[in-house]
Amino acid sequence: MQSMRAVQVSRSGGEFELVEREIPEPEHGQVRVKVEACGICHSDAFVKEGLWPGIEYPRVPGHEVAGAIDKVGEGVVAWKQGQRVGVGWHGGHCFQCEPCRDGDFVNCVKHRVTGVTHDGGYAEYTIVPEEALAHIPNELNAASAAPLLCAGITTYNALRNSGARAGDIVAVQGIGGLGHLGIQFANKLGFKTIAVSHGKAKEKLALDLGADIYIDTESVNAAEVLANLGGARVVLATAPSSKAISDLVNGLGRNGKIVVVAATGEPMEVSPLQLIPGRKSIQGWPSGHAKDSEDALDFSALRGIQPMIETFPLEKVAEAYQRMMTNMARFRVVLQIT
Ligand SMILES: NC(=O)c1ccc[n+]([C@@H]2O[C@H](COP(=O)([O-])OP(=O)(O)OC[C@H]3O[C@@H](n4cnc5c(N)ncnc54)[C@H](OP(=O)(O)O)[C@@H]3O)[C@@H](O)[C@H]2O)c1
Ligand SMILES: [Zn+2]
Repeated sequence: MQSMRAVQVSRSGGEFELVEREIPEPEHGQVRVKVEACGICHSDAFVKEGLWPGIEYPRVPGHEVAGAIDKVGEGVVAWKQGQRVGVGWHGGHCFQCEPCRDGDFVNCVKHRVTGVTHDGGYAEYTIVPEEALAHIPNELNAASAAPLLCAGITTYNALRNSGARAGDIVAVQGIGGLGHLGIQFANKLGFKTIAVSHGKAKEKLALDLGADIYIDTESVNAAEVLANLGGARVVLATAPSSKAISDLVNGLGRNGKIVVVAATGEPMEVSPLQLIPGRKSIQGWPSGHAKDSEDALDFSALRGIQPMIETFPLEKVAEAYQRMMTNMARFRVVLQIT
């Protein structure tokens, strides 16, 4: 048996375990990816803490996977060994259900979730269905590409589909893995970019990343500041706190929209009267499919957008995850695997 190193979680709330596993074989329509780097996303907590329904353990987490194709399964024609590829949260779809027939692969009723319904990238090798693969452009190394495959695509895709136009006020709330890329995308997409964070610690970094204005929610009422600036066209909410998100509704301008990407389970509190005048709304946004990932990667290469990362070896996964969960990471922790 040829073996590989992998990090798995064996039960809901269990520790990360570094184990030797058999190197998996790609089946029909799949490829095997030799993983070079895998980002640690806040959503990996769903697997670690058992917050996602129906997870089968043991599970190898990781859905910010960057590497190269190592072996191609039967029936795969569009991909070749050696190509540099990545995979994000969306880990494949069925092509047959109603959303798929409508081209809405993200809402496929049977869609696979990388590192959640199937093993992901905290390992030396992982199996990926061909429709979930994204090309990585030459300008990006694996460690820089990895965070773009979830944090990047999610913020880029949410912003480019938000309806905001160049010059509009776009606030990015929560400056972590997603938020620090959201600031860069908002700047490069031509928006007046406002970073909203709690505390002063990230002020200089946020301005360096391209924010025009920094708002510290601990010292001012952020909604009031946004309203005084004319009101946000979009607030991209990445902080996993429903209270913090609800607090920004009054900062929306006319036709303003809160685009929620932060995945929290607690209810938000907002009254219809906060939304009706000015036609304001709240929308959720799931990351996107493989072509969206390629677009995010290509746009990042084109405009020089780079995640700020801290790299850790596979065996230090617990420490790396803790840095993310305790808001210490600046800004994305990446497992450097090979
Ligand atoms: N919709 C999607 O497709 C999608 C994709 C990826 C991730 N997500 C979700 O997006 C969220 C962010 O992920 P991430 O990887 O960017 O996480 P992260 O790196 O931990 O960053 C989250 C940031 O939110 C702020 N924050 C955290 N706890 C807070 C609290 N209690 N109150 C106010 N602010 C708080 C902090 O920023 P400040 O210090 O600046 O306030 C923190 O840096 C998570 O909920 C994740 O599950 C969703
Ligand atoms: Zn993610």
